[in-house]
Amino acid sequence: MSPLEKYVSIYKKKSLLKTNLLKENDNKTIVLHAEDTDVFLDVSKNILSFSAYDALFSLAEESDLKEKIQDLIDGKKVNRTEHRAANHMVLRCLKHSHTDESGRDISKDIFSVFKKMESLCWKIDTHLWRGFSNKPIKNIVSIGIGGSHLGPNMAAKALKPYWKNNIKCHYLSNIDGSNFTETLRDLDSDTTLFIVLSKSFTTEETLKNANACKSWFLQNGGQLKDLKRHFFAVTSCIEKAINYGIDPDNIFPVWDWVGGRYSLWSAMGLPLCLTVGFENFKALLDGAWCMDQHFIHTEFKNNLPVNLALLGIYYRNVLNAQAYVVLPYDHYLQTFPAHLQQLDMESNGKSVTLEGGLLNYNSGPIIWGGVGSNGQHAYHQWLHQGTSVCPCDFILPLKSHNPVETFHSILVANCLSQSEALLEGRSEEAAFNLLLEKGHSREDAKILAPHHCIPGNRPSNTIYFEKLTPKALGSLIALYEHKVFVQGIIWNINSFDQWGVELGKHLSKTVLDAIERKDVSSLDGSTAYLVKQFIEAQSRA
Ligand code: F6P
Repeated sequence: MSPLEKYVSIYKKKSLLKTNLLKENDNKTIVLHAEDTDVFLDVSKNILSFSAYDALFSLAEESDLKEKIQDLIDGKKVNRTEHRAANHMVLRCLKHSHTDESGRDISKDIFSVFKKMESLCWKIDTHLWRGFSNKPIKNIVSIGIGGSHLGPNMAAKALKPYWKNNIKCHYLSNIDGSNFTETLRDLDSDTTLFIVLSKSFTTEETLKNANACKSWFLQNGGQLKDLKRHFFAVTSCIEKAINYGIDPDNIFPVWDWVGGRYSLWSAMGLPLCLTVGFENFKALLDGAWCMDQHFIHTEFKNNLPVNLALLGIYYRNVLNAQAYVVLPYDHYLQTFPAHLQQLDMESNGKSVTLEGGLLNYNSGPIIWGGVGSNGQHAYHQWLHQGTSVCPCDFILPLKSHNPVETFHSILVANCLSQSEALLEGRSEEAAFNLLLEKGHSREDAKILAPHHCIPGNRPSNTIYFEKLTPKALGSLIALYEHKVFVQGIIWNINSFDQWGVELGKHLSKTVLDAIERKDVSSLDGSTAYLVKQFIEAQSRA
């Protein structure tokens, strides 16, 4: 029996206990802090006993978490199916030198790429780098998808108060004519810079968009000789970018040891750098570095990522929670849940162990979420009264970048009262009395009470920090990266590959081929029917 299976077998039987850490701790909150970061984590509203909570840390020990963290730091090939290390932490540790597994010093490579990024930012800001008509650059189009889009895009949105006013960045990710048309609609070719971000430089969506941008550029005043001034690439496949037509001087390398969903910290952060400036990008890296230090050096009990991960394991494996919701109470964090979706679901949406055996327990849950208080008027109903228990992470900056009247106090009050309501709930008796107070007859109140009753004892974490600065954001992202890593270790899966996305990519070529040849004979009945619908629609005016 694995340490996880042992844990589950013990605590599954006891899990019906209606308790929580706050209750067990005499109503005193339990708040953890990652030193040198702004980030705090209140775990007291988690619905397990102290004994179950403590045993989670033993589970981590028994799963060799310490050794596995060391393997990650040492640059071992933890991504076994792709024979790669996952060295993204090195990118935020600019103060020390690093070697890869073969002993090669990789710090110099990293440093020279960062220098090149800084230099491009500077040239654009000082108008030393200009477009083909000699006007300064005003717009950037970031062309990439998945990890080459979600992280940089989320961070840029989160750091809007830090945007430089000379540059606007636009994001082109989907293979959708509407995305393309809307992105380029108001841009001028002579003041726009295109950055093709693709680690593999083979991703269909990205390459099609890049080609379409090139054609648009050439049809709108640009000439072939001007491409050098306007097209850049970030990739680990330099040759492919050169063959595509990007000038070698305009290519920013990333390395195979940077996974797509961890690539924001590499040159994939170039659009972000251009948007918020290199100093702010460095502050983001620093925030992540501080969280790394906390993760590496802090005992499990006081370790924020380890706590988040283990509590998540409790809900997934003991209580069978299918989903996990992330609820930032900050307008600027609107796409944070989307970034976490890729980070978590692409990493831990796995069904086999590292050794290739089928898992006989649950791995990663569905990750979803959105900003509060908007969600309170939509899906929070399900959180409070639905039939499933869904753990929540409330994310809360204590100060707003834009204080307006008493808005922030109201927003904070909403956030805090949601976690309180989830935990406390309202008994049928309390609902009955409330209805009487409101003037309902006893008979009416009896009928209505079950509908007004809130089960309560629904779990949540509250993550809070002073203000959404670049440093705080860096720490927040790294917090979740390490959480995902720890869970992957407990589940004994490879969190660094993503083979599940490949079949769909492969089949899309077969379907496209059927569409182009107007021959559906190779497809299954349903797909063949739908393809015919598509072909017929194209022939209609
Ligand atoms: O399709 C999944 C994926 O491979 C992600 O893991 C990755 O972030 C994304 O595609 C984009 O890949 P690339 O940077 O190679 O274009």
